[in-house]
Amino acid sequence: MPTATLALRADQSGPVINRNIYGHFAEHLGRCIYEGLWVGPDSPIPNTRGIRHDVLAALKHLNIPVLRWPGGCFADEYHWKDGIGPRENRPSMINTHWGAVVENNHFGTHEFMDLVEQLGCEAYICGNVGSGSVQEMMEWVEYLTSDAQSPMANLRRANGRDAAWKVKYFGVGNESWGCGGNMRAEYYADQYRRYNTFVKNYQRDLPVYRIGCGANAFDYHWTEVMMREATPLMNGLSLHYYTLPKDDWFNKGSATEFAEDEWFTTLQKTLRMEELLTKHGAIMDKYDPQKKVGLIVDEWGTWYNVEPGTNPGFLYQQNTLRDAIVAGLNFHIFHAHADRVAMANIAQTVNVLQAMVLTDGAKMLLTPTYHVFEMFKVHHDATVLRTDLITPDYAFDGKHIPAVSASASRNQAGQVHLSLVNTHPHEAITITTTIAGHAAKSVSGRVLTADTMNARNTFDATAAIAPQSFDGAKLGGDTLTVTLPAKSVVVLAL
Ligand code: AHR
Repeated sequence: MPTATLALRADQSGPVINRNIYGHFAEHLGRCIYEGLWVGPDSPIPNTRGIRHDVLAALKHLNIPVLRWPGGCFADEYHWKDGIGPRENRPSMINTHWGAVVENNHFGTHEFMDLVEQLGCEAYICGNVGSGSVQEMMEWVEYLTSDAQSPMANLRRANGRDAAWKVKYFGVGNESWGCGGNMRAEYYADQYRRYNTFVKNYQRDLPVYRIGCGANAFDYHWTEVMMREATPLMNGLSLHYYTLPKDDWFNKGSATEFAEDEWFTTLQKTLRMEELLTKHGAIMDKYDPQKKVGLIVDEWGTWYNVEPGTNPGFLYQQNTLRDAIVAGLNFHIFHAHADRVAMANIAQTVNVLQAMVLTDGAKMLLTPTYHVFEMFKVHHDATVLRTDLITPDYAFDGKHIPAVSASASRNQAGQVHLSLVNTHPHEAITITTTIAGHAAKSVSGRVLTADTMNARNTFDATAAIAPQSFDGAKLGGDTLTVTLPAKSVVVLAL
C-alpha cells in the first residue's frame, strides 16, 4: 500500500476560513429556481410561501452562508421591476440564455429575500450592467435597503414589505467579458466605476460589499486592469472557473459514463484552481498588498454534457463520487488561499451543474457533492493550521497528480479537524501524521466513498452513496495513522 506523511502543525495558525467559501449560487436557469427552490404557494408540494420544505431543510442543514442570485448570464437581462407586485400582473420575458423558455417573473425580489431569510443566510445580488441602466441598479439598491420615506422604499412597502432588507453583497454585472456584454477589461473597468458610484449605502451599519466582475479563468489581463483601475472602489473581485473533463464545450464529457481517463483529467483540471488563485492573487497583491479586496470565486464546479433527453439549455447533470472529490480538492485549495479568497459560490445549488440537490417533481435526492459540503461544515470560520504533506502521485497515461490532498483547521471551541482526499481510484494510502501543538485524545471521523468512480444517488436509491463512520484512523500519542480508502473524502475530528 502506498504511504504518505503529514506533519499537522497545530502550533502554526494561518488565516480564518471565511464561511462564505461554502457559498452558493442559484440562477433562473432550468429547474434551479422553478421546481428546485420555488414551487409556488398553491403547489401540492409542501412549501412555505412557495419555497419547498424538503429542499429548504436540506440546504439549512448545510448552514449555507450566502446565496448569489439571480444569475449568471440571466442577471444581465433581468429587470427587477418585472419581478415585484402581484404575481398575476408581472410581465413575462424570454430567458434567452437558458433554453429560450418564458420566465413569468413569479420568483422576484420579495421571493428571493424570503428564501434568504428562511435559509438564514446572507444575500448576494448581482445587478444588471449588460442591458440595464445605472438608474435601474440604483433604484434596486434603494428598494432593497432604504428605510427612508423615499419612492423606492415606499414602493416596497406598497408591495407588502415594510422594513428594509439586509443585503450585504452586491455584484456589479456578471461575466461582462462574455454574456454580460462582451466588454473589454478597459471598458468594463470604467463601467464598473460608473455603476458602482450609484450603488449607495442606505444603511450606515451595513455598507454594501461591492463585487466587481472578474476574470474568466486564465484571463490575467482582466484582473490586472480591474485592480489597476478600480481597487479603491471594490471590496471584492470575482473569478469564474469551471472543470470540464474534455477540452471541448460541445462535448464536455458525460457526468456518469466515464472511464479512468476522464476521472483523471477532471481531477487534474480541478487542481488548476491552485494556479489560478496563485496567479490572480499575485496580481491583486501588487495593487492591494494588504489584501483588502477579496477574491470571490462566485462560479466554480464541474460542467458536463446534460443528462440524455433533457433540455440542453437547462444544464441538468447527475453528480457522482467524482464530483465529491472535485469539491473536496477545491475546498482545500480555497483554504490554502484563505488570506485572499473571501467567498466562493458553487454553480449551482439545485438541478443545475454541480448541484447539492436534485429534484424530480415532489422527489428529492442529495448528491455526493452535498455530502462533502455537509462534512466540511466543521471548517466554517475555523483557523487554517499548517500541514506539510509528502504524498505519492496518482499516475495515469504518463501524467500525474498528487494522490493525497489535506487541510486542517481549528474551530473556535479549540477542536482540530483534518480533511483528506484520495484522488487515486484504485489504491488505498496509509498516511502517517505527526501532530504538534494539539494534544489529541481521541479521533473520530466520517468517510465518503463507494465501489465505483461513478457511484451516485438516484430517485430509486437515494442513499447509494452517503457518509459512513470511519474506523481507519488510529491515534498513538502524537502520531495518527490513517488508512485512506481509494477515491475517498475523509473528515476527522481530533
Ligand atoms: O452557471 C452557468 C453559467 O455559467 C452562468 O450563467 C454564467 O455566468 C457562466 O458562464
